[in-house]
Amino acid sequence: MPTILVDPRNPDPHAIDRAAAILRRGGLVAFPTETVYGLGAHALDEGAVRRVFRAKDRPELNPLIVHVADQDGARRLVTAWTDIAARLAAAFWPGPLTMVLPRHQRVPAVVTGGLPAVAVRVPAHPVALALLRAADLPVVAPSANPSAAVSPTRAEHVERGMGDRVDLILDAGQTRLGIESTVIDLTGDQPRLLRPGALAATDLEPFTGPLATAPAPTGSQRLASPGMLERHYAPRARLALFASHDRETAGAVARAAAREGATVGALVLRPLDAPVRHTVAMPTDAAAYAARLYDELHRLDQMGCDLILAEQVPEGPAWDGVRDRLSRAAAEAPPSGT
Ligand code: TXA
Ligand code: MG
Repeated sequence: MPTILVDPRNPDPHAIDRAAAILRRGGLVAFPTETVYGLGAHALDEGAVRRVFRAKDRPELNPLIVHVADQDGARRLVTAWTDIAARLAAAFWPGPLTMVLPRHQRVPAVVTGGLPAVAVRVPAHPVALALLRAADLPVVAPSANPSAAVSPTRAEHVERGMGDRVDLILDAGQTRLGIESTVIDLTGDQPRLLRPGALAATDLEPFTGPLATAPAPTGSQRLASPGMLERHYAPRARLALFASHDRETAGAVARAAAREGATVGALVLRPLDAPVRHTVAMPTDAAAYAARLYDELHRLDQMGCDLILAEQVPEGPAWDGVRDRLSRAAAEAPPSGT
């Protein structure tokens, strides 16, 4: 698939126009945001939206985020623009915050998996904004990876994961924040955190008041944010978490795996004394860690790791997004699979 290099500081209008034309006629364009690369399609074109689900092999019940160039664009997609939404938009847009609000009927139900609410966000990336303005459309954009795999933070990750399923990739280098937006639900009485992400809940609470968290999913219960249940953000290698204070167990696991011929990788905050083939010393700052996490997981997969030992990250709200992604990457696949 064609990949076009674009300078994020000065996106070439010809490249942007070409991508916008593909979106307008119902095609798929992978583009950079400040969080991860998105797989974009015309949000008001049902056929285009279905193509996104198919390209990702994503269950149609898992709703998509609609990206718009500005607040006005978002307001056209919802039936209620609450005071809290207005305050959050003023404070954090463009930026890594996704708000779930009552869906306007002009948004096709396929976008939200039939839910009466729609997720909206204005991304803070010059290429994404230029594309949204040029296309002059709302654009659905899940992360541009096959469903449940590690999200892409570079165009190469998109090419490798789904290059044959997109019409164009806009390559503006590595994304800045490295994990996905924070998703909050504003449709209920109390604002609710659906997915921790690049923005910490404590950054939002001055505007929202105390945030409720998503109830733990049980059995067949329908999920508020279905993407939250599955094993997700997972590399091909098995990922095992170890506690910082339990380096002996991690060492023993690595030795046992190595004896069986497995290639072992590790993501650590402090050195680990173990037979690990590829050790990545990760930053001890949460934002810097997030910016590198997916890139390192992709790299360890590329190196052929069978097992990745990942040191648990510190407690505290700054680490919530990273902690969430690590634990979902480490989760066992559900027995029935989805
Ligand atoms: O940073 C991001 O949010 C990236 C970039 C490309 O913008 N996009 C992204 O999209 O992460 P995706 O599809 O990989 O994740 C969207 C999340 C899922 O957990 C989904 O269930 C939730 O948002 N979501 C979307 N629409 C929703 C809705 N109407 N109600 C509840 N949750 C929703
Ligand atoms: Mg995703």
